[in-house]
Amino acid sequence: MTTQTTQLDTRFALAKSIAQEAGAMALDYFNRRETLVIETKRDVQDVVSIADRNVEKLIRERVASMFPEDGFLGEEFGHTAGSSGYTWVVDPIDGTAPFVNGMPNWCVSIAVLHDDAPVIGVVEAPCDNEIYAAAKGKGAKLNGKPLTIDPSRTIQNAMTGIGANSYVTPERVGAIIIELLHGGGNFVRNGSGALMLAYVAAGRLVGYYEPYMHAWDCLAGYCLISEAGGWYHTFPTQGDGLTKGAPVVAAGPGARADLEKLAGLV
Ligand code: IPD
Ligand code: CA
Ligand code: CA
Repeated sequence: MTTQTTQLDTRFALAKSIAQEAGAMALDYFNRRETLVIETKRDVQDVVSIADRNVEKLIRERVASMFPEDGFLGEEFGHTAGSSGYTWVVDPIDGTAPFVNGMPNWCVSIAVLHDDAPVIGVVEAPCDNEIYAAAKGKGAKLNGKPLTIDPSRTIQNAMTGIGANSYVTPERVGAIIIELLHGGGNFVRNGSGALMLAYVAAGRLVGYYEPYMHAWDCLAGYCLISEAGGWYHTFPTQGDGLTKGAPVVAAGPGARADLEKLAGLV
């Protein structure tokens, strides 16, 4: 085994075990969510609580104790640069709006970047007892079962995930839905972009498009989708790009052309 492989393997094992521990902590908060104080961030739809912060703290502590030289970017506490060439990119709870409203569509999303590309993607969905896990060159799995995207699925014969937030105008979001429906497709939005990207890897959705999301929302899903045989639009992870938003687009092979068109990439 080369040193590079060992480095990836040890981080992959850690990412999966942290995701499960973090998922259990988040589920405990979810089960007593009426005790949480809900705060708002950019707007009243953008919510956060102590659950998001403490889950991220736990993940940071676990990573720092094993890989103190790795970089770390989390949604709640920002970016700490590293020196190892690996950077962990984490959304402690993606789908906080469903979480605080008592719906099961939320997850813990953990990605690891190497050479600016996601080489590990783990999405833990505690309410479903599901863990999606992928590492570069090792395939993607759902609860240990290998995932391969079916190329015969298209926007017409399957469902497409669409996301929206207040960074994007209602007119733009409306135009995306109109174009998708005119193309013979239909849309799903469950409130967790990271989980919908994992659904693309699992073949539950054929693609995902959200005009503006952050690295912590999409990089784990991107690794999962790529390892399951799908395509994603590269997220600009170099320099400042890592902490800024960008379009998030991914699809199975049968829907790639339509999603690229929908996102205005071609
Ligand atoms: C949000 C969710 C949502 C997406 C937003 C994200 P959060 O993340 O992924 O589905 O539409 O753009 O910000 O706030 O639940 O971590
Ligand atoms: Ca998020
Ligand atoms: Ca979040």
